[in-house]
Amino acid sequence: MAQQVRYERRGSTGVITIDNPPVNALSKAVRQGLVDCVMQGLGDEAAKALVVIGAGRTFIAGADIREFGQPLEPPDGNFIIAGLETAGKPIIAAIHGTALGGGLEVALGCHYRVAVPSAQVGLPEVKLGLLPGAGGTQRLPRLIGVKPALDMITIGDFVRAGKAKELGIIDEIVEGDLLEGALRFAETVAGRGTAGRRIREREDKIAEARSNPVLFQEYRAAVRKRARGQESPLRSIDAVEAAVTLPFTEGLKREREIFQELVTSTQSRALIHAFFAEREAMNIPGVPPDTPTRPIKTAAVIGCGTMGGGIAMSFANAGIPVTVVETSSEALERGLAVIRGNYAATVAKGRLEPAAMDKRMGLIKGTLELAAVKEADVVVEAVFEEMAIKKDLFAKLDRLAKPGAVLATNTSSLDVNAIAAETARPQDVIGTHFFSPANVMRLIEIVRGAKTGRDVIATTMKLAKTLAKVPVLVGVCEGFVGNRMIFQYIREAQFLLEEGALPWQVDKALQDWGLAMGPFAMSDMAGNDVGWRIRKQQAPTRPNDRRYSHLADEICERGRFGQKTNAGWYRYEKGSRAPLPDAEIEALILAESKRLGIERRPIADEEIVKRTIYALVNEGARILEEGIALRASDIDVIYLTGYGFPAWRGGPMFYADTVGLDKVYADVARFHAAQGYFWRPAPLLEKLAREGRRFSDLDSRKG
Ligand SMILES: NC(=O)c1ccc[n+]([C@@H]2O[C@H](COP(=O)([O-])OP(=O)(O)OC[C@H]3O[C@@H](n4cnc5c(N)ncnc54)[C@H](O)[C@@H]3O)[C@@H](O)[C@H]2O)c1
Repeated sequence: MAQQVRYERRGSTGVITIDNPPVNALSKAVRQGLVDCVMQGLGDEAAKALVVIGAGRTFIAGADIREFGQPLEPPDGNFIIAGLETAGKPIIAAIHGTALGGGLEVALGCHYRVAVPSAQVGLPEVKLGLLPGAGGTQRLPRLIGVKPALDMITIGDFVRAGKAKELGIIDEIVEGDLLEGALRFAETVAGRGTAGRRIREREDKIAEARSNPVLFQEYRAAVRKRARGQESPLRSIDAVEAAVTLPFTEGLKREREIFQELVTSTQSRALIHAFFAEREAMNIPGVPPDTPTRPIKTAAVIGCGTMGGGIAMSFANAGIPVTVVETSSEALERGLAVIRGNYAATVAKGRLEPAAMDKRMGLIKGTLELAAVKEADVVVEAVFEEMAIKKDLFAKLDRLAKPGAVLATNTSSLDVNAIAAETARPQDVIGTHFFSPANVMRLIEIVRGAKTGRDVIATTMKLAKTLAKVPVLVGVCEGFVGNRMIFQYIREAQFLLEEGALPWQVDKALQDWGLAMGPFAMSDMAGNDVGWRIRKQQAPTRPNDRRYSHLADEICERGRFGQKTNAGWYRYEKGSRAPLPDAEIEALILAESKRLGIERRPIADEEIVKRTIYALVNEGARILEEGIALRASDIDVIYLTGYGFPAWRGGPMFYADTVGLDKVYADVARFHAAQGYFWRPAPLLEKLAREGRRFSDLDSRKG
């Protein structure tokens, strides 16, 4: 245990090295080791100063997340950090990689901080629904001032070494070898003592805020807007305010109290669930991590429309050369121009170097020759959503693609097995359901066909990671996981209109609840005509089996396809994407209620949330039962990364668990009695509710 932290002397400096791969997390053994080694260093008369450094690729990347929620075993962070800070010898934190959370707090307990240029520091606890609980909220404002500290703590973003030096977090940037630089630095400060360097004793940077309580009021108002519904950013402000209004040790106590409240909160549990769920999604029974994968060095994308263009960009962004194939030079030119325009917009925003744009554009080649796919290790088809076209294409790909190439389809609704059956190599065919815009959205539903090979699954999951995406493995069914669930949700949102709500009320209720966007604004963005065209091809509905509200067709018959026609469920000013309530829509909805003989009633926001979110949950339960998703947490990942579901709710399935499945089931059964067919409770939901269990009880999480 003890060798996770070791002490040695180099000249007149004691060096404390933390060696707990992979990221030097502050486990119990590391905490104890730090205490022991600091004691040893302070007792070593030949050591005039101490350096704390991380072995391997980083300083301390934070607490051990797995210890959250459990009683923390001593020694605790505050004890260690107080020991560092009050020591009589100068202690220098030498930072490379990342100093995050508890890692930065340890560094703030030191008297000096030096870092290599690539190092990053941050207090990202807020992203897990927490706050820095080992003095971060008390020391950082004393070091860099209240406003910059609030920004770092309530947003949780990382700060690069250069910026950190400007802010005053880092004292010196070390070019070249970190330890050598830190040792040189240590020699220069060795004789100086530590009195003026203890952050706890500093008052200068917080004095101004002490006489300016409005600062906190204004900051709270801004955060309420920015972090809608989320507790931890607001509670972090309380803790920083305590740094300003209370003596240091009282402030520390206050920080600890708030930390304890947050660590047991549902929001924190949800965010930690989301963190682990994303990693767990890579875990596929029957496809162990050592499953051989095929090398992917070159790619081809068929179709350079909305999706194909974004997918090609994703490859280029990852440095993989990609050939895009189109049917006409006009379509190809148009597609490549959109790609160029997207990159240029990023350059204009200062988020991409012009040289990087040129490099990426250089990786994308356009052609009208399908035969060009013969070079590609992976081919992603993104042509029109028509089975006949896709079948024809896959038959051709079967003849043209090199043996062993992964043949992927981006279909959002068609049967991957039927597409695979057009080839003599169905084991190589898989679905890669990207989300729009494909160069931005992180989610990919990886659709496993009945015959898809295990190595092809492993290869595609790995490829998705290379593309900086979040892959989730799903099975074949209409709409796969995400869209199959969203149909139910949208249907229910539309029924609410017939019963008494208006689109802007439904959207606001769900946005207030935490969703990035309500269902009607979302439909307007995606295009209302997409579903309309599909419905027109479907069999007419039976009278008692109403599949959807007629309103959805009515607005399309009026040409209201959404943002692209400046009118949908909302109206839009030319050139603007801001949805505006529209009297025409209100009149239309009122007339539809009348036509259906429904007496409109006021609908509470609570009913809106339950009717729509439980529609997701009930369908999610069916999907789980059918084995289309491997685990409830995978469904959560899909909603968190693909549908703007608030991370602090943990995803629809986790949310249902937190409500209690007995309560969710009771409401679903009630809706079933009132609304009929579509609310048939999923048998799995009913079963778990009766047994007093949760969806998460079904997920076997490996440690
Ligand atoms: N748009 C979305 O939000 C979205 C999201 C996920 C998945 N998808 C799926 O992605 C696929 C593409 O959708 P899209 O929105 O990009 O469509 P799109 O109409 O924007 O683009 C399709 C492109 O494919 C080209 N094309 C058609 N047949 C071709 C062929 N035989 N060879 C080469 N190119 C051909 C067309 O010229 C067109 O440029 C569809 O299967 C769709 O269901 C779309």
